[in-house]
Amino acid sequence: ADEPLVLGIETSCDETGVGVVRGTTLLADAVASSVDDHARYGGVVPEIASRAHLEAMVPTIERALAQAGVAAGDLDGIAVTAGPGLAGALLVGVSAAKAYAYALDKPLYGVNHLASHICVDQLEHGRLPEPTMALLVSGGHSSLLLAPDITTDVRPLGATIDDAAGEAFDKVARVLGLGFPGGPAIDREARAGDPNAIAFPRGLTGPRDAPFDFSFSGLKTAVARWVETQRRAGLDVPVADVAASFQEAVTDVLTRKAVRACREQGVDHLMIGGGVAANSRLRAMAEERCAAAGITLRVPRPGLCTDNGAMVAALGAEMVARNRPPSAWDLPADSSLP
Ligand code: KG4
Ligand code: ZN
Repeated sequence: ADEPLVLGIETSCDETGVGVVRGTTLLADAVASSVDDHARYGGVVPEIASRAHLEAMVPTIERALAQAGVAAGDLDGIAVTAGPGLAGALLVGVSAAKAYAYALDKPLYGVNHLASHICVDQLEHGRLPEPTMALLVSGGHSSLLLAPDITTDVRPLGATIDDAAGEAFDKVARVLGLGFPGGPAIDREARAGDPNAIAFPRGLTGPRDAPFDFSFSGLKTAVARWVETQRRAGLDVPVADVAASFQEAVTDVLTRKAVRACREQGVDHLMIGGGVAANSRLRAMAEERCAAAGITLRVPRPGLCTDNGAMVAALGAEMVARNRPPSAWDLPADSSLP
């Protein structure tokens, strides 16, 4: 029981997440989402998210502490997402973390949202090997990251040059009239569809293209055009087939590049995180391709892939365990943290 006990706060987007962990053991994961408040706008409205965080912050912290059955006074530290994310939303979490840490006389740890998405896997599969190779796919990011040290050294090998993978899912879902957030809806629809029905383009996979960068905006446009052409001709849009073929194109590119990155860097395991890692086809294809390449695949369960507080607590606990210096009291909420 001398593993660090840490509370983590996540408010970078539309989920108010508070988690409590002891080392790599998950004790509590409380989430209040404002996703329903944004649905009718077809995307996250920053001002609505900030206000929702403000209302949910203290009750969610109290719920997490109760769930974990620990007293706030026993915590070894308070971790919080310092960025990247929506500025106003981040500010609510950072302010709350400072207030609790100061009042309780505990060290404060500002952490990177992306590094947290990687570190959360420790709660499910134990300590991550180092260096860790990670494919992070969410509504805001699509990156291949190599982490020699998850607390201090996370290096980007490549990233999207336009839309994030999750953003593409959300936009294509809108074209198909499937609502927001689009990822889960497309995942569901695609189960009844043929992934080879329509040959959608695979962006940036040519021999001269950057090997680890991604591009999904051409794919999104190709889907929109295909659907429009069908509608203009008075034909039915086979929603399940379009969803399955689109999903196949995204997952094909993601897994192909991730496996290649592992091979080139000599890393024998791959971690996949972020909201899109909840996608069932991505999980299945990654499993197949990693097995064929002799790579061990680590994907946390869907609830830990989407934004949550436990991932922040997990990275905070790792900071405490490795004696990393706490953040200063003037820790900024940095919306464009790299
Ligand atoms: O990591 P996350 O919760 O928030 C960000 O930091 O962006 O990711 C949210 C994204 C959304 O774009 C959502 O559509 C996508 O993850 N997503 C999925 C699935 N579940 C969530 N995309 C594809 N398949 C899913 N099952
Ligand atoms: Zn995220």
